[in-house]
Amino acid sequence: MSVPAGGREAVEALFTAAYGHRPAAVASAPGRVNLIGEHTDYNGGEVLPIAIAQRTWVAIAPARGHASRAVSRERGEGGEWGSAYTRATGTWWDYVAGALRGAESLGARPHGHDVAVVSDVPMGAGLSSSAALEVATVAAALAMEGLRLARTADDGAIPLRDVALVAHGAECDFVGVACGIMDQFASALCEDGHALHLHCDTAQARSIPFRRGVLIVDTVSPRALLHSAFNTRRAECTAALEILRQFDPALDVLAHATPELLERAALPDPVGKRARHVVAETQRVREFVRHCEAAAGRPGLGSDETREAIGLLLNASHRSLRDDYECSSPELDWVVEHCVARIGIDGARLTGAGWGGCAIVVGDAKVLGEFSHELAETFELSWGRPPRTWLTSPDGGARIER
Ligand code: GLA
Repeated sequence: MSVPAGGREAVEALFTAAYGHRPAAVASAPGRVNLIGEHTDYNGGEVLPIAIAQRTWVAIAPARGHASRAVSRERGEGGEWGSAYTRATGTWWDYVAGALRGAESLGARPHGHDVAVVSDVPMGAGLSSSAALEVATVAAALAMEGLRLARTADDGAIPLRDVALVAHGAECDFVGVACGIMDQFASALCEDGHALHLHCDTAQARSIPFRRGVLIVDTVSPRALLHSAFNTRRAECTAALEILRQFDPALDVLAHATPELLERAALPDPVGKRARHVVAETQRVREFVRHCEAAAGRPGLGSDETREAIGLLLNASHRSLRDDYECSSPELDWVVEHCVARIGIDGARLTGAGWGGCAIVVGDAKVLGEFSHELAETFELSWGRPPRTWLTSPDGGARIER
């Protein structure tokens, strides 16, 4: 899919208006949705995200003064910070400051940047607007030094994998959110027409052909529980791993537990349910990938059997998130139930952390385009507000625009 020129031009114009000089480099990075493999990344499991069409563009140049500065078209007020700013204070430019600090380890110059940001990645919907900002900032800071980005380490280019790791470090160590590695890897490494099969224990990633329409449905619900509930789930997974290690001391991460081990350990609930989700979900990712690879090169995932198989995996993932991981919401369940058994629709599930946010519906792009109107109308009748919907297909990851 092509990048709307408006993104690059808009960020250059914003930069020049804010600082009175032209940017030295521009880079962009996309938001993401995860096809399958939810709450597995911080458990050392597997995930399968795609980059979406919405992106964040970052323009950058060395600062003319002593401070670093950032302005954003979408986030309102701009910020300024000095070289002693080493911990987040809850501002939107924390993501920029953290990413710039991290980028130094890859060859970016130390403190002193002017930055402008333009984005059409919806914020607060669980589509990784923060990862897109971090990845685009790291890429822009490297582009400014004349460095190239590459999928593999070739003659002096910076591997995109390192960009993802630095961006993830900014989120965890600077901003202070203990998320898994999926979002930054998806934003940095995804390829057009492909999903990214990422092994979160080793951070090894492979592109898997995926040519099917994806309808994103944002339930536009408040996500007040998100951070506390996410941290509680992480703690429950750690507790599950500790108990399982009494039965198998060699177990390194929860996602590597086998169903037999779970049965033998008979973990008490709720940690038993959480572990069951993580282990089964990792298995579902593998099966999903196997089906996509078998269908590679054939339009629409090849055959009815393949589409049905991946649909069943999507629906099973949602049930597991709803019942065992308990991170769904009534609106998300409604969307998924509304989509089952429709011609041209393979399956649906919540995507991202949950507790509100977005669901994805996978199927024939034309069918999904028509279905989205009907879905929006009936959603509004049931919930008293319209959802936001976007029809997407796998797009490309981070790139240097100039
Ligand atoms: C959030 C986190 C991701 C991942 C998902 C759940 O989006 O940022 O790292 O843990 O939740 O799969």
